[in-house]
Amino acid sequence: MELALTLDTSSKKSLQAQVFDQVRALILDGRLQADMALPPTRALAERFNVSRNTVMIAYERLAAEGYVEARGTAGIFVTSIPPDDLLLINGGFDGFRSSEPVAQQSSEPILCFAGSPGGETDRPALDFWPGRSAAGAFPLQTWRRIITNLLSTEPQNLTDYCDPAGLPELRKAIADHLGRSRGMHVAMDQIIITAGSQDALNLILNLLRQHTQRLCIENPCYIGASMLFQSQGLPIDPVPVDKDGIRTDCLPSVHRSLLYVTPSRQFPTGVMMSRGRRLALLRWAEETESYIVEDDYDSDLRYDGPPLTSLAGLDQGRRVFHVGTFSKSVGAGLRLGFAVVPRIHWDDARVLKAQMSNGQSWLEQRALAEFITEGHFDRHVRKVRRIYKSRRDCLRAALQKNFGDPVLSGSESGLHLIWQLPPGMPSARFIQAKARELGIGVYALSSGGAFDFGGAEPDDKLMFGYSSLTEKEIVQAVETLRDLLRARH
Ligand SMILES: Cc1ncc(COP(=O)(O)O)c(C=O)c1O
Repeated sequence: MELALTLDTSSKKSLQAQVFDQVRALILDGRLQADMALPPTRALAERFNVSRNTVMIAYERLAAEGYVEARGTAGIFVTSIPPDDLLLINGGFDGFRSSEPVAQQSSEPILCFAGSPGGETDRPALDFWPGRSAAGAFPLQTWRRIITNLLSTEPQNLTDYCDPAGLPELRKAIADHLGRSRGMHVAMDQIIITAGSQDALNLILNLLRQHTQRLCIENPCYIGASMLFQSQGLPIDPVPVDKDGIRTDCLPSVHRSLLYVTPSRQFPTGVMMSRGRRLALLRWAEETESYIVEDDYDSDLRYDGPPLTSLAGLDQGRRVFHVGTFSKSVGAGLRLGFAVVPRIHWDDARVLKAQMSNGQSWLEQRALAEFITEGHFDRHVRKVRRIYKSRRDCLRAALQKNFGDPVLSGSESGLHLIWQLPPGMPSARFIQAKARELGIGVYALSSGGAFDFGGAEPDDKLMFGYSSLTEKEIVQAVETLRDLLRARH
């Protein structure tokens, strides 16, 4: 088994402590489950280029604290009962009260952020991992028809390079779409097609590297962005988020910063950034000569209320880089997204994209362009909006029925909602771990694809990504959760 660790030799924390913290976090998260074997010490040491002794000491500490156990010559395995008191964060739940208050997420980033923890094979049977689109809703027939047609009419393009900024047809289709749906006036020569938002974030960070003195990021934050930002070797300011989005009063006054935000729907809290905060952000960027990356990952999926003006739309192409993706609206497997770049940076961004990957696959880009311009994209989004809205309503009703009057938030759009646990319930991480034993994946706010730099939130919120489960599965999962929590009372 491959362990996704990020070891930093320049960190003040010893390598043993880093291995210990990160493996423990994987166990507490449920990504490493009971009875799974850890890699042999020699293999792990070789894989991460550290001494075997380092790994052995970390494993010994994990064993001493009850997370893993040696089973003779068979190897070292995750124990079946993780130490309960370490799972409890809130205390406050009779019978499970803990004197040890914190089982904090490791301060180190954990890999494997976009899919379900642990990959396909060990997914819980009923998994509310946030952000997965419904497999059955993918427009397979149309996609197949477009691809087949392209292969028979334009096969010569498969053997040619295309523009590293992206296929002009697709850039044009996206520019038009942003005009219609987001009120943005974007020229196709401001767009770079990328492999999803992750590639776009990477491109922007590289583009602005020389300019940037400091990185700022939401806390809690989307783990894909937080991992990338933390890997840059620049000082980072995690900025708290409240019900109006990022706290602009907590932004540093350092010049030439680069800030990552999710204004349309903060990930993971689900809050929408208020207009006042948006304007304050733009003022801050002007005053400090800073740039902002707006990650607009799921704003096509809005159920209640009108679409929102993007931050980039307010900014008029000066300080905001806008990032979009087709991962949520169509499918993450396409690996297609885009960056809208202020005009003066576009040429450099195009050269950089050429250096990084020389553009994206012609076939997928061309198919997506056709999918959008023929009107299939709009139709598809209307269709999945209906499906996801109905699943959201089903989840809300099931929680209502089984838990009285749950306090839910972040459900106006997107693919997940948040349940604020009532007083007296176990901590979210505790419920996450126990539910997983029953084949249900629900996630604490600092866990399901999110990263908490510490101090951001009490551990009393559970995330439910409802988009990839059928309504029957949603009802069944919530009933199992109810039985679990009743049994604990
Ligand atoms: C905040 C946020 N941004 C972006 C993405 C999608 O990333 P990508 O386009 O790289 O698939 C996700 C996926 O979960 C997300 O939660």
